[in-house]
Amino acid sequence: MNIEKVVVIGAGQMGTGIAQVMAQSGLHVILNDLSDEHVQKGLGVIYNQLQRDVKKGRKTEEEKQEILERIQLSSNLSEATDVQFVIEAATEKLEVKKQIFKYLDEIVPNGAILASNTSSISITEIAAVTKRPELVIGMHFFNPVPVMKLVEIIRGLATSDKTYEMIKSLTRTIEKEPVGVKDFPGFAANRILVPMINEAIFCIYEGVSTSEEIDNVMKLGMNHPMGPLQLADFIGLDTVLSIMEVLHDGYGDPKYRPCPLLQQYVKAGWLGKKTGRGFYIYE
Ligand code: CAA
Repeated sequence: MNIEKVVVIGAGQMGTGIAQVMAQSGLHVILNDLSDEHVQKGLGVIYNQLQRDVKKGRKTEEEKQEILERIQLSSNLSEATDVQFVIEAATEKLEVKKQIFKYLDEIVPNGAILASNTSSISITEIAAVTKRPELVIGMHFFNPVPVMKLVEIIRGLATSDKTYEMIKSLTRTIEKEPVGVKDFPGFAANRILVPMINEAIFCIYEGVSTSEEIDNVMKLGMNHPMGPLQLADFIGLDTVLSIMEVLHDGYGDPKYRPCPLLQQYVKAGWLGKKTGRGFYIYE
């Protein structure tokens, strides 16, 4: 089966980026979320991104229009009946994902592949609610999606070789680089990245230095484009904490203990850039 028409569930930061890169590569995309307001807002983000590309001379006005024409908006998932591929980028809650996959399994054609952009939830567990676990896979994108080249491809216990190869090929079609990983907590990227961020937070907690100085250490000493605390604010401190909890619960190893300061910030609602305050203040 050729993948030509896809559904992207979730018109947030990740879903809009995924919809954009897929439409840019010639795929027909249905961008779905719970309300018309959500999907309209998502389309606005894509529009601004494409407009920026036109201004910078990376795309023509005509190309921008063609990409936008390939994106259909929907607030009703039952419209997803004639697609070959679905990627879910909804909220990072197991129960929500289970509900979505169970429903998708009933309405999406036999043979269609169901992917999740989850950053930490087990693909095997999501797949288990469907009658097609061999067609369920993880496709983990990185923020900002239009810029970051990597896609982690996560094989659940039952994911077939054929599904894995098709998704690797789809990833290359959208001009990203696939890296295959097994379904272990945090997969590979977040298992490496998020404990580093947690350690940077411990440095603040223990008074080793300030946020600016810790970020400078990693930017100037290791050539990271952003320091770990700025990156934590960019990802969202609630997400950082939830990934640390997945690692801690999943491996049972105290080295993954979330920093108490991170827990406090989340309790305070200081979630980073999206709430205007995290390790930095945003106007
Ligand atoms: N959306 C789309 N494109 C964006 C963008 C955004 N939010 N932010 C920046 N860009 C693009 C722009 O096109 C920009 O180019 P132009 O100015 O020519 O248009 C280009 O990136 C460079 O941007 P800037 O000059 O503004 O800033 P920069 O050079 O510092 O780059 C950055 C910005 C690409 C975000 C860079 O700081 C970076 O790579 N940071 C690290 C990002 C990272 O680690 N992401 C992974 C997070 S972890 C994750 O996503 C997974 C998870 O499960 C938690």
